[in-house]
Amino acid sequence: MHTKNLVSGIQPSGRLHIGNYLGALENFTKLEASKEYRCFFMVVDLHSMTEPYDPAAKGVQVMDTLAGFIAAGLDPKKSVIFVQSHVPAHCELAWILGSITPFGELSRMTQFKDKSARQEETNIGLFTYPVLMASDIVLYDAEAVPVGDDQLQHLEFTRTLARKFNHRFGETLVEPKPLMTRTPRVMSLTDPARKMSKSEPAGCLFLDDEPDEIMKKVMAAVTDSGAGIAYDTESKPGIANLLEIFSSASGKPIEELVRDYGEEKYSAFKKAVAKAVAKKFAGYRKKKAKLMANPLKLVKIAARGAKTANAVANAKLAEVRKKVGLL
Ligand code: AMP
Ligand code: TRP
Repeated sequence: MHTKNLVSGIQPSGRLHIGNYLGALENFTKLEASKEYRCFFMVVDLHSMTEPYDPAAKGVQVMDTLAGFIAAGLDPKKSVIFVQSHVPAHCELAWILGSITPFGELSRMTQFKDKSARQEETNIGLFTYPVLMASDIVLYDAEAVPVGDDQLQHLEFTRTLARKFNHRFGETLVEPKPLMTRTPRVMSLTDPARKMSKSEPAGCLFLDDEPDEIMKKVMAAVTDSGAGIAYDTESKPGIANLLEIFSSASGKPIEELVRDYGEEKYSAFKKAVAKAVAKKFAGYRKKKAKLMANPLKLVKIAARGAKTANAVANAKLAEVRKKVGLL
């Protein structure tokens, strides 16, 4: 039996890309298979409301992300797979945690600074985003949280907050540790100095892109003007990023790929990268299309996950309410 709990979440704000996969989702499936943890994986729809969106499209995006979880290999019989807003305890705990969160700490969050600079109107949700994320985690007594490196600051915040809560109200919340993959930061195809991000779709390789789209995007990926395939994140960041993606997609170590393609032209190398990616996600594309054609199955998976998640979360919330003195 599992002795430890694990939690992670992905926003339903666009299709899943290879950064999500190599930084987080692939690791979810490995961790599920390891049986070391009782896993809780959620689609964080409430978090995704902090950026501009179309209400008519949100439901489909939630289904799309759920389908992505299953198509990537997660098993709803082994993990608790659910939608964040189906568990009201997340918001209630976020309020309680918000009351012990210093304003200044949230102002320092890089993601808040980046996103609020990009948005016309900065909303309070974007500011308190890390408090909701902390509540997502501590409600399930999670010891481990698999994420990409852009979430490390939020996890550190969660740890600090849990410690503060325990200090003030007595030992209650577990301090979670991040779990990262070998590729915690996949870079954009159009700008290898920036991370691949759903908010900039042009630089993304989506997991359900068709092979011809993958080929088109990889061939157009920004690389330096030099020649030769070598792994150098400083002078050849575009090629280094493609090598990371190629290595993960093919299962071959980077050194072997550099040996095989070192003398090749960029175009031949890129063609091979695109082919490997298309092959790696062939099963994903098929499985996801099948799931999206059967929304009832996804609804049932989410309903079953919500039942378990609510039971676990409500028990923890009851403990917290008592500790903080609520009647
Ligand atoms: P998001 O799409 O922002 O909800 O992110 C979901 C998960 O994917 C989080 O664990 C992120 O850290 C991870 N992630 C997002 N973008 C990347 C990227 N470019 N490289 C690696 N991991 C990423
Ligand atoms: N903030 C995370 C992201 O943008 C998503 C997220 C919300 C999350 N709640 C979480 C990740 C809890 C891990 C655990 O990627």
